[in-house]
Amino acid sequence: MLMNHLLLRKIFLIDMTFKGKNIILGVCGGIAAYKAVELLRLLKKAGAEVRVVMTESALEFVGELTFRVLSENDVCTGLFNTDVSSVRHIEWANDADAVVIAPATANIIGKLANAIADDALSTIMLAVTSPVMICPSMNSNMYENLAVQRNLDILENDGMFILEPGSGELACKTTGAGRLPEPAMIFDRLEKLFVKKDLKGKKVLVSAGPTREAIDPVRYISNHSSGKMGYAVARCAELRGADVCLVSGPVAIDPPFGIDLVKIETADEMAGEILDRMDDADIIIMVAAVADYRPAAPEKLKIKKKDNTNGLSISLIENPDILKQAGKRKKRQFLMGFAAETNDLEINALIKMEKKNLDMIAANLVGVAGSGFGSDTNKVKLFLKNGKSQDIPVMEKTQIAHRIFDSILAEHGAEHGREEISHVP
Ligand code: CTP
Repeated sequence: MLMNHLLLRKIFLIDMTFKGKNIILGVCGGIAAYKAVELLRLLKKAGAEVRVVMTESALEFVGELTFRVLSENDVCTGLFNTDVSSVRHIEWANDADAVVIAPATANIIGKLANAIADDALSTIMLAVTSPVMICPSMNSNMYENLAVQRNLDILENDGMFILEPGSGELACKTTGAGRLPEPAMIFDRLEKLFVKKDLKGKKVLVSAGPTREAIDPVRYISNHSSGKMGYAVARCAELRGADVCLVSGPVAIDPPFGIDLVKIETADEMAGEILDRMDDADIIIMVAAVADYRPAAPEKLKIKKKDNTNGLSISLIENPDILKQAGKRKKRQFLMGFAAETNDLEINALIKMEKKNLDMIAANLVGVAGSGFGSDTNKVKLFLKNGKSQDIPVMEKTQIAHRIFDSILAEHGAEHGREEISHVP
C-alpha cells in the first residue's frame, strides 16, 4: 500500500523524458545480460544518469568495465568489494527516479518478494521508493514455476511493473516464455512509467502513412509520407494510457509497442478499416496521406513498354475522402485531421476543418526544412473548431504529438467534465 502510494507520487512528479533522470539499472546473471549493455546505451543517449548494479553472477556473463565505461559511473558489484561504499548505495536508492532490473532472474525476484537483502542489488532495492520495472528472463519452466509466478504476483501487488518476457527459442534450447524483450522495448516501457496516464479509458483511432493505388501488378501511385507523424501520435496515445488502433499504409518504420496495428495498402481499404472502427472510438486522428485519386482500371498484367508512342495516359478516379465521411458520421467523437499544404496554410486548413466537420486540424507546410514528410521534426499550427489556434514551433514529432493530446484533452476533456491537464514536455 505504502509502495503504491510512493509509486503514484513519483510518476506524477516526474516528466516523460529521461533527460537528467537517475536510473538504476540492475543486472542479474543470465545469458541475456548482454542486452543490458544496449539498454544502458539507449538510456544514456536519452540523457539519463545511469547507475549500474551487477550481481555476482552477472559478472560471469558481462564485464563490469563495459558498464563502467558506458555509464560513465562506478558500477556497484557488491556491498563491500567495490569503490562504491554501502552508504552510497542508499544514496543511489534515494536519488533514483526509476529502477529497471534487466535481466531479472528467479533468484532476485524471489528475494524482492520476500525482502531478503543479501547482496548489493537486493539491499538497494529495499531502500528504493521510485517506480520499479522488473524484466524477468529465464528458462520457460523456471518462469512458469508456481513459486516464481507467485513471487511475481507479489511484486506486482507491491506496485512494481513486470515486463512480460517474450516467447521463442531460449538459450537453453527450450521453447517457451522467458526471453528478455529487446532493449528498445524495455526502454519504451520504462518511458511509459514516467508518463501521466491522462488518456486512460480512451479509445484512440489513428491513421498513418501513405496509401498505394495500383496501376498494374508492379506499379502504383503513392506519396512521400514516411508515417513518422502518425506513428508518433499513436505511440504518444499509448504511452498516455489510451487503447490505440493504428491503421497504417506501407511504411519502413517499426510500429509503436502496445498498439493494435492494422496494415492496409489502398485508400479504399483504409476507408473500410477506419469507418468500421470509428463508432467505438473516442478520438480519431487522420494523419495518413491518403491518395485522392486512383487508376480507374488497374491492369491485371504488367503494362509493357511500347515503342514509338506518345507517352502513356492513365485515367484516374476519385478515392473516398475518409475524413469527410467520418465527419458526417461522427457523434460524440473528437475528430482531427492534418492539412499538408505548400501555400496559404491557414486559409486552406480552416476550409478543410469546415468541409470535413472536424474538431481540430493540424496544418503544416510541406517542402520546408525541419517540417513535413520524412523529417523527424515538424512545425504545425493547430486550429480548433471553437476559433482557438496554437502555433507549435519546430520540434520532434513525438513532442508535437504530446502537444496535440494536451490540446485535445483541454477541449474534449472540458466537454466531458475532465480537468484541464498541464503540458507534458
Ligand atoms: N484525407 C482523407 N481521405 C482522403 C484525403 C485526405 O481522409 N481521400 C484526410 C487526410 O488524412 C488529412 C486530411 O484529410 O487528415 C487532409 O488531407 P490533405 O491531403 O491535406 O487534403 P485533401 O482533403 O486531400 O485536399 P487537397 O489534397 O486538395 O489539399
